Amino acid sequence: MTASPFATLDDLDVDNRRVLVRVDFNVPLTGDGQVRDDTRIRGALPTLTTLRERGAKLVVCSHLGRPKGKVVPSLSLEPVGARLAELLSVDVKLADEVVGDGVTKLVTDARAGEVVLLENLRFSPGETSNDPKLAQALAALADAYVCDAFGACHRAHASVVGVPQLVGERAAGRLLEAELRSLSRLVTAPQRPFVAIVGGAKVSDKLGVLMALVERLAAGDTVVIGGAMANTFLAASGRELGASLMERERQNDARIVMTKAAARDIRVILPTDLLVGEGIDAPNARLHDVLAAPLGDAEMALDIGPATAKRCAAAIADAAMVLWNGPMGLFENPAFAEGTLAVARAVADCPGYCVVGGGDSVAAVSQSGVADRIDHVSTGGGASLEFIEGKTLPGVAALHRTQD
Ligand code: 3PG
Repeated sequence: MTASPFATLDDLDVDNRRVLVRVDFNVPLTGDGQVRDDTRIRGALPTLTTLRERGAKLVVCSHLGRPKGKVVPSLSLEPVGARLAELLSVDVKLADEVVGDGVTKLVTDARAGEVVLLENLRFSPGETSNDPKLAQALAALADAYVCDAFGACHRAHASVVGVPQLVGERAAGRLLEAELRSLSRLVTAPQRPFVAIVGGAKVSDKLGVLMALVERLAAGDTVVIGGAMANTFLAASGRELGASLMERERQNDARIVMTKAAARDIRVILPTDLLVGEGIDAPNARLHDVLAAPLGDAEMALDIGPATAKRCAAAIADAAMVLWNGPMGLFENPAFAEGTLAVARAVADCPGYCVVGGGDSVAAVSQSGVADRIDHVSTGGGASLEFIEGKTLPGVAALHRTQD
Protein backbone atom coordinates (compact mmCIF):
# COMPACT_ATOMS: atom_id res chain seq x y z
CA MET A 1 0.00 0.00 0.00
CA THR A 2 1.35 3.48 -0.89
CA ALA A 3 1.68 5.76 2.12
CA SER A 4 -0.52 8.84 1.95
CA PRO A 5 1.53 11.89 0.93
CA PHE A 6 0.01 13.81 3.80
CA ALA A 7 -1.13 13.17 7.36
CA THR A 8 -4.82 12.87 8.21
CA LEU A 9 -6.76 13.58 11.40
CA ASP A 10 -5.92 10.07 12.58
CA ASP A 11 -2.24 11.01 12.75
CA LEU A 12 -2.73 14.04 14.99
CA ASP A 13 -2.77 14.17 18.77
CA VAL A 14 -5.13 17.05 19.41
CA ASP A 15 -6.22 16.52 23.00
CA ASN A 16 -6.36 19.89 24.74
CA ARG A 17 -4.35 21.45 21.91
CA ARG A 18 -5.18 24.40 19.66
CA VAL A 19 -6.00 23.26 16.12
CA LEU A 20 -6.35 25.86 13.37
CA VAL A 21 -8.81 24.49 10.82
CA ARG A 22 -8.93 26.21 7.42
CA VAL A 23 -12.39 25.59 5.95
CA ASP A 24 -14.14 26.97 2.87
CA PHE A 25 -17.23 28.68 4.27
CA ASN A 26 -17.50 30.87 1.19
CA VAL A 27 -21.25 30.26 1.02
CA PRO A 28 -23.99 32.13 -0.84
CA LEU A 29 -25.91 34.61 1.32
CA THR A 30 -29.46 35.90 0.91
CA GLY A 31 -30.18 39.61 0.31
CA ASP A 32 -30.66 40.06 4.06
CA GLY A 33 -27.36 38.40 4.91
CA GLN A 34 -28.47 34.89 5.90
CA VAL A 35 -26.79 31.69 4.70
CA ARG A 36 -28.68 30.62 1.55
CA ASP A 37 -26.94 27.26 1.07
CA ASP A 38 -25.05 25.60 3.93
CA THR A 39 -23.59 22.69 1.92
CA ARG A 40 -20.02 23.85 2.52
CA ILE A 41 -20.61 24.29 6.26
CA ARG A 42 -22.13 20.81 6.51
CA GLY A 43 -19.19 19.47 4.50
CA ALA A 44 -16.75 20.46 7.26
CA LEU A 45 -18.78 18.93 10.11
CA PRO A 46 -17.10 15.48 10.10
CA THR A 47 -13.71 17.13 10.65
CA LEU A 48 -14.91 19.63 13.22
CA THR A 49 -16.88 17.02 15.16
CA THR A 50 -14.01 14.53 15.17
CA LEU A 51 -11.59 17.16 16.45
CA ARG A 52 -14.01 18.33 19.15
CA GLU A 53 -14.65 14.78 20.29
CA ARG A 54 -10.91 14.29 20.61
CA GLY A 55 -10.61 17.31 22.86
CA ALA A 56 -9.20 19.90 20.46
CA LYS A 57 -9.63 23.63 20.97
CA LEU A 58 -10.87 24.63 17.53
CA VAL A 59 -9.77 27.81 15.79
CA VAL A 60 -11.78 27.82 12.58
CA CYS A 61 -10.96 30.20 9.73
CA SER A 62 -12.38 30.90 6.26
CA HIS A 63 -12.77 33.55 3.61
CA LEU A 64 -16.17 34.81 2.42
CA GLY A 65 -16.51 36.61 -0.89
CA ARG A 66 -13.85 38.98 -2.18
CA PRO A 67 -13.62 41.98 0.21
CA LYS A 68 -10.15 42.83 -1.19
CA GLY A 69 -8.31 43.32 2.10
CA LYS A 70 -10.89 45.66 3.66
CA VAL A 71 -13.51 45.12 6.35
CA VAL A 72 -16.81 44.81 4.48
CA PRO A 73 -19.54 44.35 7.11
CA SER A 74 -21.88 42.52 4.71
CA LEU A 75 -19.14 39.86 4.32
CA SER A 76 -18.70 39.23 8.04
CA LEU A 77 -18.68 35.55 8.99
CA GLU A 78 -21.29 36.28 11.65
CA PRO A 79 -24.24 34.53 9.90
CA VAL A 80 -21.94 31.64 9.01
CA GLY A 81 -20.88 31.33 12.65
CA ALA A 82 -24.54 31.30 13.70
CA ARG A 83 -25.31 28.48 11.25
CA LEU A 84 -22.22 26.54 12.34
CA ALA A 85 -23.31 26.86 15.97
CA GLU A 86 -26.73 25.44 15.07
CA LEU A 87 -25.25 22.53 13.13
CA LEU A 88 -22.68 21.66 15.81
CA SER A 89 -25.07 22.42 18.69
CA VAL A 90 -22.35 24.37 20.47
CA ASP A 91 -21.55 27.97 21.09
CA VAL A 92 -19.26 29.43 18.38
CA LYS A 93 -17.26 32.48 19.51
CA LEU A 94 -16.82 34.84 16.57
CA ALA A 95 -13.66 36.95 16.80
CA ASP A 96 -14.11 40.52 15.62
CA GLU A 97 -10.91 40.46 13.57
CA VAL A 98 -8.65 37.99 11.77
CA VAL A 99 -5.68 38.24 14.11
CA GLY A 100 -4.83 40.57 17.01
CA ASP A 101 -4.78 40.72 20.79
CA GLY A 102 -8.51 40.07 21.15
CA VAL A 103 -8.24 36.94 18.99
CA THR A 104 -5.21 35.68 20.87
CA LYS A 105 -7.10 36.07 24.16
CA LEU A 106 -10.17 34.24 22.82
CA VAL A 107 -8.00 31.36 21.68
CA THR A 108 -5.94 31.26 24.88
CA ASP A 109 -9.11 31.18 26.97
CA ALA A 110 -10.73 28.43 24.87
CA ARG A 111 -11.20 25.07 26.55
CA ALA A 112 -11.13 21.59 25.02
CA GLY A 113 -14.04 21.16 22.58
CA GLU A 114 -14.72 24.90 22.27
CA VAL A 115 -14.92 26.63 18.91
CA VAL A 116 -13.52 30.05 18.00
CA LEU A 117 -14.27 31.36 14.48
CA LEU A 118 -11.92 34.03 13.13
CA GLU A 119 -13.40 36.91 11.14
CA ASN A 120 -13.27 36.73 7.31
CA LEU A 121 -9.62 36.06 6.40
CA ARG A 122 -9.86 38.32 3.36
CA PHE A 123 -10.57 41.34 5.57
CA SER A 124 -6.80 41.22 5.96
CA PRO A 125 -4.85 42.24 2.80
CA GLY A 126 -2.17 39.69 3.72
CA GLU A 127 -4.43 36.71 3.03
CA THR A 128 -4.51 36.81 -0.77
CA SER A 129 -0.92 38.12 -1.02
CA ASN A 130 0.29 35.29 1.24
CA ASP A 131 1.96 37.80 3.53
CA PRO A 132 4.38 35.99 5.86
CA LYS A 133 3.37 38.30 8.74
CA LEU A 134 -0.25 37.20 8.53
CA ALA A 135 0.81 33.56 8.15
CA GLN A 136 2.98 33.88 11.27
CA ALA A 137 0.20 35.52 13.27
CA LEU A 138 -2.22 32.75 12.29
CA ALA A 139 0.36 30.04 12.95
CA ALA A 140 0.94 31.51 16.43
CA LEU A 141 -2.68 30.61 17.25
CA ALA A 142 -2.12 26.92 16.58
CA ASP A 143 -0.35 23.81 17.81
CA ALA A 144 -1.56 21.93 14.73
CA TYR A 145 -3.08 22.88 11.37
CA VAL A 146 -5.83 21.07 9.48
CA CYS A 147 -6.91 21.98 5.96
CA ASP A 148 -10.48 21.06 5.05
CA ALA A 149 -10.92 23.90 2.56
CA PHE A 150 -10.88 21.93 -0.66
CA GLY A 151 -12.69 24.77 -2.48
CA ALA A 152 -9.82 27.16 -1.69
CA CYS A 153 -6.89 24.77 -2.26
CA HIS A 154 -6.19 26.24 -5.70
CA ARG A 155 -5.40 29.59 -4.03
CA ALA A 156 -1.83 30.12 -2.78
CA HIS A 157 -3.06 32.30 0.07
CA ALA A 158 -1.60 32.83 3.56
CA SER A 159 -4.04 30.53 5.39
CA VAL A 160 -3.79 27.86 2.68
CA VAL A 161 -0.04 27.65 1.98
CA GLY A 162 1.73 30.07 4.35
CA VAL A 163 0.43 28.68 7.65
CA PRO A 164 1.03 24.94 7.01
CA GLN A 165 4.66 25.72 6.23
CA LEU A 166 5.00 27.23 9.71
CA VAL A 167 3.04 24.79 11.85
CA GLY A 168 4.95 21.58 12.59
CA GLU A 169 1.92 19.29 12.60
CA ARG A 170 -0.45 19.54 9.66
CA ALA A 171 -3.07 17.27 8.20
CA ALA A 172 -5.88 16.99 5.69
CA GLY A 173 -9.41 17.05 7.06
CA ARG A 174 -12.10 14.49 6.22
CA LEU A 175 -13.74 16.63 3.50
CA LEU A 176 -10.44 17.30 1.77
CA GLU A 177 -9.61 13.58 1.89
CA ALA A 178 -13.03 12.67 0.42
CA GLU A 179 -12.75 15.26 -2.34
CA LEU A 180 -9.27 14.11 -3.36
CA ARG A 181 -10.29 10.44 -3.24
CA SER A 182 -13.33 10.98 -5.48
CA LEU A 183 -11.78 13.35 -7.99
CA SER A 184 -8.58 11.26 -8.20
CA ARG A 185 -10.70 8.30 -9.29
CA LEU A 186 -11.82 10.26 -12.34
CA VAL A 187 -8.28 11.33 -13.19
CA THR A 188 -6.23 8.24 -12.40
CA ALA A 189 -8.69 5.39 -12.96
CA PRO A 190 -11.20 6.60 -15.57
CA GLN A 191 -13.74 3.97 -16.55
CA ARG A 192 -15.24 3.98 -20.02
CA PRO A 193 -17.49 5.14 -21.46
CA PHE A 194 -16.65 8.37 -19.65
CA VAL A 195 -19.09 11.25 -20.07
CA ALA A 196 -17.95 14.78 -19.20
CA ILE A 197 -20.70 17.40 -19.10
CA VAL A 198 -19.33 20.92 -19.15
CA GLY A 199 -21.68 23.88 -19.01
CA GLY A 200 -21.91 27.36 -17.57
CA ALA A 201 -21.42 30.78 -19.04
CA LYS A 202 -17.82 31.09 -20.14
CA VAL A 203 -15.53 29.01 -22.31
CA SER A 204 -12.60 30.95 -20.83
CA ASP A 205 -13.39 29.60 -17.33
CA LYS A 206 -13.44 26.01 -18.56
CA LEU A 207 -11.03 26.03 -21.48
CA GLY A 208 -8.24 24.40 -19.44
CA VAL A 209 -10.46 21.53 -18.37
CA LEU A 210 -11.94 21.07 -21.86
CA MET A 211 -8.46 20.86 -23.38
CA ALA A 212 -7.35 18.40 -20.69
CA LEU A 213 -10.47 16.28 -21.26
CA VAL A 214 -10.08 16.03 -25.04
CA GLU A 215 -6.45 15.06 -24.52
CA ARG A 216 -7.17 12.52 -21.78
CA LEU A 217 -10.43 10.90 -22.86
CA ALA A 218 -10.50 8.09 -25.41
CA ALA A 219 -12.50 6.83 -28.36
CA GLY A 220 -16.09 6.17 -27.32
CA ASP A 221 -16.06 8.77 -24.53
CA THR A 222 -18.35 11.79 -24.74
CA VAL A 223 -18.07 15.48 -23.95
CA VAL A 224 -21.39 17.32 -23.60
CA ILE A 225 -21.11 21.08 -24.00
CA GLY A 226 -24.04 23.12 -22.75
CA GLY A 227 -24.98 26.46 -21.24
CA ALA A 228 -23.90 29.75 -22.76
CA MET A 229 -20.52 28.10 -23.48
CA ALA A 230 -22.21 26.04 -26.17
CA ASN A 231 -23.11 29.28 -27.97
CA THR A 232 -19.45 30.03 -28.58
CA PHE A 233 -19.03 26.53 -30.02
CA LEU A 234 -22.15 26.85 -32.19
CA ALA A 235 -21.05 30.30 -33.42
CA ALA A 236 -17.62 28.84 -34.22
CA SER A 237 -19.35 26.43 -36.58
CA GLY A 238 -21.22 29.25 -38.30
CA ARG A 239 -24.56 29.36 -36.44
CA GLU A 240 -26.29 32.74 -36.03
CA LEU A 241 -27.36 33.12 -32.42
CA GLY A 242 -28.94 36.58 -32.20
CA ALA A 243 -28.29 38.28 -28.83
CA SER A 244 -27.02 35.10 -27.11
CA LEU A 245 -24.18 35.38 -24.62
CA MET A 246 -20.92 34.21 -26.17
CA GLU A 247 -17.18 34.88 -26.29
CA ARG A 248 -16.30 35.66 -29.90
CA GLU A 249 -12.58 35.78 -29.06
CA ARG A 250 -12.77 32.15 -27.92
CA GLN A 251 -14.19 30.75 -31.15
CA ASN A 252 -10.79 29.60 -32.26
CA ASP A 253 -10.23 27.76 -28.98
CA ALA A 254 -13.63 26.14 -29.46
CA ARG A 255 -12.53 24.93 -32.91
CA ILE A 256 -9.30 23.51 -31.43
CA VAL A 257 -11.32 21.54 -28.83
CA MET A 258 -13.60 20.18 -31.57
CA THR A 259 -10.68 19.22 -33.83
CA LYS A 260 -8.81 17.45 -31.02
CA ALA A 261 -11.94 15.58 -30.00
CA ALA A 262 -12.63 14.49 -33.59
CA ALA A 263 -9.03 13.31 -34.04
CA ARG A 264 -9.41 11.03 -31.00
CA ASP A 265 -12.93 9.78 -31.77
CA ILE A 266 -14.38 11.50 -28.73
CA ARG A 267 -18.01 12.34 -29.32
CA VAL A 268 -18.97 15.95 -28.66
CA ILE A 269 -22.64 16.65 -28.00
CA LEU A 270 -23.62 20.23 -28.79
CA PRO A 271 -27.22 21.48 -28.70
CA THR A 272 -29.23 20.79 -31.83
CA ASP A 273 -32.32 22.39 -30.34
CA LEU A 274 -32.48 25.30 -27.92
CA LEU A 275 -34.98 27.11 -25.75
CA VAL A 276 -34.75 30.79 -26.58
CA GLY A 277 -36.22 33.97 -25.15
CA GLU A 278 -35.96 37.74 -25.48
CA GLY A 279 -33.71 38.60 -22.51
CA ILE A 280 -32.85 36.64 -19.39
CA ASP A 281 -36.14 37.47 -17.67
CA ALA A 282 -38.23 36.18 -20.57
CA PRO A 283 -41.29 34.50 -19.01
CA ASN A 284 -41.69 31.95 -21.82
CA ALA A 285 -39.41 29.89 -23.96
CA ARG A 286 -39.60 29.31 -27.71
CA LEU A 287 -38.24 26.03 -29.03
CA HIS A 288 -35.67 26.62 -31.75
CA ASP A 289 -34.06 24.19 -34.20
CA VAL A 290 -30.40 25.20 -34.41
CA LEU A 291 -29.91 23.73 -37.86
CA ALA A 292 -33.04 25.24 -39.39
CA ALA A 293 -32.74 29.01 -39.01
CA PRO A 294 -30.84 31.82 -37.30
CA LEU A 295 -32.12 33.27 -34.01
CA GLY A 296 -33.97 36.60 -34.06
CA ASP A 297 -31.75 39.64 -33.34
CA ALA A 298 -33.20 40.10 -29.83
CA GLU A 299 -33.37 36.40 -28.98
CA MET A 300 -31.00 34.58 -26.63
CA ALA A 301 -30.33 30.87 -26.32
CA LEU A 302 -31.11 30.15 -22.64
CA ASP A 303 -31.44 26.36 -22.35
CA ILE A 304 -30.90 23.17 -24.31
CA GLY A 305 -34.04 21.86 -25.98
CA PRO A 306 -35.76 18.50 -25.24
CA ALA A 307 -34.13 16.63 -28.14
CA THR A 308 -30.66 17.65 -26.94
CA ALA A 309 -31.58 16.80 -23.34
CA LYS A 310 -32.68 13.36 -24.54
CA ARG A 311 -29.38 12.75 -26.36
CA CYS A 312 -27.47 13.82 -23.23
CA ALA A 313 -29.57 11.54 -21.01
CA ALA A 314 -28.95 8.59 -23.36
CA ALA A 315 -25.18 9.14 -23.24
CA ILE A 316 -25.27 9.50 -19.45
CA ALA A 317 -27.37 6.32 -19.02
CA ASP A 318 -24.61 4.26 -20.66
CA ALA A 319 -21.71 5.91 -18.83
CA ALA A 320 -19.37 4.10 -16.46
CA MET A 321 -18.19 7.47 -15.13
CA VAL A 322 -19.69 10.95 -15.29
CA LEU A 323 -18.18 14.30 -14.44
CA TRP A 324 -20.59 17.25 -14.50
CA ASN A 325 -19.60 20.87 -14.02
CA GLY A 326 -21.81 23.79 -15.09
CA PRO A 327 -25.53 24.13 -15.89
CA MET A 328 -27.09 23.64 -19.33
CA GLY A 329 -28.88 26.97 -19.27
CA LEU A 330 -30.27 29.79 -17.18
CA PHE A 331 -31.95 27.42 -14.74
CA GLU A 332 -32.65 30.20 -12.19
CA ASN A 333 -35.47 31.19 -14.58
CA PRO A 334 -38.06 28.37 -14.46
CA ALA A 335 -38.79 28.81 -18.18
CA PHE A 336 -35.20 27.72 -18.88
CA ALA A 337 -34.57 25.20 -16.08
CA GLU A 338 -35.70 21.94 -17.66
CA GLY A 339 -32.51 21.11 -19.60
CA THR A 340 -30.34 21.39 -16.48
CA LEU A 341 -32.83 19.52 -14.29
CA ALA A 342 -33.12 16.74 -16.92
CA VAL A 343 -29.34 16.34 -16.84
CA ALA A 344 -29.42 16.27 -13.02
CA ARG A 345 -32.00 13.46 -13.08
CA ALA A 346 -30.06 11.53 -15.73
CA VAL A 347 -26.86 11.77 -13.67
CA ALA A 348 -28.73 10.58 -10.55
CA ASP A 349 -30.17 7.61 -12.49
CA CYS A 350 -26.79 6.64 -13.99
CA PRO A 351 -25.47 3.42 -12.45
CA GLY A 352 -21.86 4.52 -13.10
CA TYR A 353 -19.65 6.57 -10.78
CA CYS A 354 -20.85 10.20 -10.91
CA VAL A 355 -19.25 13.37 -9.62
CA VAL A 356 -20.85 16.81 -9.75
CA GLY A 357 -18.89 20.00 -9.03
CA GLY A 358 -19.33 23.76 -9.36
CA GLY A 359 -21.81 25.88 -7.41
CA ASP A 360 -24.56 26.04 -10.06
CA SER A 361 -24.62 22.35 -10.95
CA VAL A 362 -24.56 21.49 -7.25
CA ALA A 363 -27.54 23.85 -6.76
CA ALA A 364 -29.29 22.10 -9.67
CA VAL A 365 -28.87 18.64 -8.15
CA SER A 366 -30.18 19.97 -4.83
CA GLN A 367 -33.10 21.70 -6.59
CA SER A 368 -34.05 18.45 -8.31
CA GLY A 369 -33.83 16.60 -4.99
CA VAL A 370 -31.30 14.08 -6.28
CA ALA A 371 -28.12 15.16 -4.44
CA ASP A 372 -28.11 12.04 -2.25
CA ARG A 373 -28.13 9.82 -5.35
CA ILE A 374 -24.89 11.30 -6.72
CA ASP A 375 -21.69 9.46 -5.72
CA HIS A 376 -19.81 12.65 -4.93
CA VAL A 377 -20.99 16.26 -4.88
CA SER A 378 -17.86 18.39 -4.78
CA THR A 379 -17.70 21.54 -2.67
CA GLY A 380 -15.03 22.91 -5.01
CA GLY A 381 -15.71 25.02 -8.10
CA GLY A 382 -12.41 26.30 -9.51
CA ALA A 383 -10.48 23.86 -7.31
CA SER A 384 -12.23 20.80 -8.75
CA LEU A 385 -11.68 22.06 -12.32
CA GLU A 386 -7.98 22.65 -11.71
CA PHE A 387 -7.63 19.23 -10.12
CA ILE A 388 -9.32 17.51 -13.07
CA GLU A 389 -7.12 19.55 -15.39
CA GLY A 390 -4.15 17.87 -13.72
CA LYS A 391 -2.79 20.91 -11.91
CA THR A 392 -1.17 20.63 -8.49
CA LEU A 393 -3.31 22.43 -5.94
CA PRO A 394 -1.01 24.60 -3.78
CA GLY A 395 -3.09 23.95 -0.66
CA VAL A 396 -2.70 20.19 -1.08
CA ALA A 397 1.01 20.42 -1.90
CA ALA A 398 1.52 22.47 1.28
CA LEU A 399 0.25 19.55 3.37
CA HIS A 400 2.72 17.03 1.98
CA ARG A 401 4.98 15.34 4.45
CA THR A 402 8.56 16.58 4.31
CA GLN A 403 11.10 14.11 2.97
CA ASP A 404 13.35 14.07 6.06
C1 3PG B 1 -14.90 29.15 -4.38
O1 3PG B 1 -16.02 29.58 -4.07
O2 3PG B 1 -14.66 28.58 -5.47
C2 3PG B 1 -13.80 29.22 -3.37
O3 3PG B 1 -14.29 29.57 -2.11
C3 3PG B 1 -12.72 30.16 -3.81
O4 3PG B 1 -13.18 31.49 -3.86
P1 3PG B 1 -12.44 32.53 -4.77
O5 3PG B 1 -12.68 32.18 -6.21
O6 3PG B 1 -12.99 33.88 -4.39
O7 3PG B 1 -10.95 32.43 -4.46
